[in-house]
Amino acid sequence: MKSISPKNLLIIIAMLLAVLVSASIIIYTGWKTDHIQWLWAVGAFVFSFITSILMLLFVNTLVLKKINQLLATVKYFRSQSAQPSTNIEYSGVEIDNLNLEILAWADDRKNEIERLKKLEIYRKEYLGNVSHELKTPIFNIQGYVLTLLDGGLEDPTINRNYLMHAEKNVDRMITIIDDLEAISQLETGELQLEPERFDIAALAKDVIDAQEMKATEKGIILTLPEEVKPTFVFADRFRIRQVLVNLIVNSIKYGKEYGETQIRFYDKGDTISIEIADNGIGISEEHITRLFERFYRVDKSRSREQGGTGLGLAIVKHIIEAHNQTIKVTSTENVGTVFSFTLKKG
Ligand SMILES: Nc1ncnc2c1ncn2[C@@H]1O[C@H](COP(=O)(O)OP(=O)(O)OP(=O)(O)O)[C@@H](O)[C@H]1O
Ligand SMILES: [Mg+2]
Repeated sequence: MKSISPKNLLIIIAMLLAVLVSASIIIYTGWKTDHIQWLWAVGAFVFSFITSILMLLFVNTLVLKKINQLLATVKYFRSQSAQPSTNIEYSGVEIDNLNLEILAWADDRKNEIERLKKLEIYRKEYLGNVSHELKTPIFNIQGYVLTLLDGGLEDPTINRNYLMHAEKNVDRMITIIDDLEAISQLETGELQLEPERFDIAALAKDVIDAQEMKATEKGIILTLPEEVKPTFVFADRFRIRQVLVNLIVNSIKYGKEYGETQIRFYDKGDTISIEIADNGIGISEEHITRLFERFYRVDKSRSREQGGTGLGLAIVKHIIEAHNQTIKVTSTENVGTVFSFTLKKG
C-alpha cells in the first residue's frame, strides 16, 4: 500500500479534530438551525483546525525532524561518504526506513567488530609465530657459540662443524626476515612489479634444472609436457620464478619417494594456466582454506623438519594477486596435490 504523505496526513488529522470539535458544539447546543449556532460551529472548526495544524507542525518540527536527522546520521556512518545533514526535508518514507537503516547499520557494525576481532587474533598469532620462528635459530646459534666458547673452539673435531651449523641458522633467520619483508612489501603495494614478456615454459625448465638435485635425492622426477612449445606470458619474471620455485620445492618436500611432479600449461584464451601437480601426501579438506595464510603448515613438525616456515604459499598468493590473477589448489590425501595459477598471455 502506498503510504500517505506526511503533509496530507497532517491536514487529515487537523481536519478530523476540527470536525470533531464543531460537531460536539452542534450536538451540545442541540440541532437548531439558527444563524448564531452555525457561526459558532464554523468558528470552532476554523479555530480548532488552525490550532491542530500548529500543534502538529510543532510536533513535526520537534520530533520528526530529529528522527530524520538521526536517519541521516545513521546513513552517514554507514556510507561514510557525506557529511551528516542537519537540514533534511521531512519525508515519511524515510522515517519508515529508519528502523531498517538502524538494523542494517547494527549489522555492519557487528560484522566490522567480528572482522577486527579476527584481525586481532591473527595479529597475536602472527607476532607469536614470528618470535617463535626466530627464537629457534637464535637459540641454536647461542648453543653452538657457548659450546665453542666453553673450549669447543680448541677442539678441531667440532669447531668448524659448529660454526657451519651456526651459519646455517643465520641463513635461516635471513630467509625468514626476507620472506616477511617480501610479504609486507607486497601487502602495502610498495613492491612494484616489473612485468615483461617471457617464455614461461623456458622459465619452468630453468627452475626444474635448478631443483633437479633436490628431487633426485628423493627419487622424484620433475617433468614438463613432452613437446613443450614456447608459451609467452606478460608478468614479473623474477617474482614468477619465486612462485615456481616454491611450488616445485613444495612438491618435492611433500612428495612421496619415487614420485613425480608434472608442470603443465593450458591456453585459456586471455590467460595461460600453469599447473604444478604432484602425487605426494596431499592435503586434507580442512587445511585447504588456510593454506595460503602466513606461517600456516599442515604438519608443523614435518614441515619444520623440511626447513619450512609456512611463508612460501603466502608469498606465492600475494605475487599472483599483485598480477591480478588467481591461484587455486585441489588435493586428495595420499593421492596428490595440484596448484594452478593464471598469468596474462604475452
Ligand atoms: N604440494 C604439497 N603437498 C602437500 N602439502 C603441501 C604442498 N605444498 C604445501 N603443502 C603444505 O602447506 C604448508 C604451507 O606451505 P608453504 O610453502 O607456505 O610453507 P613451507 O613449505 O612449510 O615453508 P616455506 O615455503 O616458507 O619454506 C606446508 O607446510 C605443507 O604442510
Ligand atoms: Mg614452501
